[in-house]
Amino acid sequence: MATREPIGYRVGVVGATGAVGSTILEVLSERDFPVSELVPFASERSAGKQVEFGGRKLEIRPLSPETIDGVELVLSSAGGSVSAEWAPRFADAGAVVVDNTSYWRMHDDVPLVVAGVNDEAADEHRGIVANPNCTTMQMVVALKPIWDTAGIERIVVSTYQSVSGTGRRAIEELREQSRAVLEGEQPDPEVFPHQVAFNVIPQVETFSDGDDYTTEERKVMNETRKILAAGKELGVSSTCVRVPVVTGHSESVNVQTREPLSPEECRQVLAAHPGILVVDAPHEGIYPLAIDAAGRDEVLVGRVRRDPSHERCLNLWVVGDNLRKGAATNAVQVAELLHERGLVRAAPQPVGAA
Ligand SMILES: NC(=O)c1ccc[n+]([C@@H]2O[C@H](COP(=O)([O-])OP(=O)(O)OC[C@H]3O[C@@H](n4cnc5c(N)ncnc54)[C@H](OP(=O)(O)O)[C@@H]3O)[C@@H](O)[C@H]2O)c1
Repeated sequence: MATREPIGYRVGVVGATGAVGSTILEVLSERDFPVSELVPFASERSAGKQVEFGGRKLEIRPLSPETIDGVELVLSSAGGSVSAEWAPRFADAGAVVVDNTSYWRMHDDVPLVVAGVNDEAADEHRGIVANPNCTTMQMVVALKPIWDTAGIERIVVSTYQSVSGTGRRAIEELREQSRAVLEGEQPDPEVFPHQVAFNVIPQVETFSDGDDYTTEERKVMNETRKILAAGKELGVSSTCVRVPVVTGHSESVNVQTREPLSPEECRQVLAAHPGILVVDAPHEGIYPLAIDAAGRDEVLVGRVRRDPSHERCLNLWVVGDNLRKGAATNAVQVAELLHERGLVRAAPQPVGAA
């Protein structure tokens, strides 16, 4: 007698108490992903805590060889060091891991997938699929139709990134600092290198030894090329800036196309692309706003205009919810495409194997 596949997967969410992990739980429910059992993981600090999923309260578990046993699909967002150790362990135990951290993104044998942009890259997975950095993710969604229509030679991007991009503690820091400043106090920064409330900080993440660019800026440059399967011939220059916004990254993107593309044509190809919402009537005060993007899955694009200094350059304003399409929604969309392509239970050749 033929055995029937169970309806749904045993899904592990690693970092289930975090900003991204809790959004993953919401998105899995909203999109009705086939889950037969959900196993929420977090650190030892969360022992005894519960999270809600599908109307049930589930106890948080620590990561151990026993607790990961039998998990088939993992959506992981607990930081690079946790993924470095546990993603291969999950993969060795037969699971497929969709990883939100930066640890695996640039490994040659780990596909870096933006659903709706380079889905086919997931076919090559060996147990780990990486989710790009949130800043890169929303920009690449907006660039893909332009890339396909006119080609792109160079991108110059400046970002205005929300604090939730740094996680739960960073959201608390903005709220506490805002209250303190309004009460006339001078708060000490803990999560960010400077006060973020009522301020703009031209540093997202850290400066590695001797590099004038931050690790976040390097991610934007390197990951964009990997997702678009472009080499060094694609110029990418980025400046990443933290602003006192809770959710929603905004980006000023200057794109130099290979072929001519008018702002009107650009709006048309953007509007035709699933996952993009063109919001562009600037004279009526209508353009993408972080507060409008927060809670949505689409990437909002507006202020599409010719760069007066170059006939093949356009300027765009790109806004997305960093916790949703920038992380959780894309992770679940990748899980969906692994499911649709029969790639969840397929035994992969492990990462690092020849
Ligand atoms: N925030 C974003 O917009 C965004 C977007 C894309 C990618 N990412 C990436 O996603 C990851 C998480 O980001 P976040 O913003 O969700 O951070 P967060 O709010 O600080 O959450 C971190 C999560 O990781 C868990 N954790 C920490 N150490 C652990 C350990 N040793 N074992 C198991 N779980 C552990 C925490 O559990 P406890 O509650 O027990 O401490 C918490 O659930 C980071 O790598 C980040 O770069 C974030």
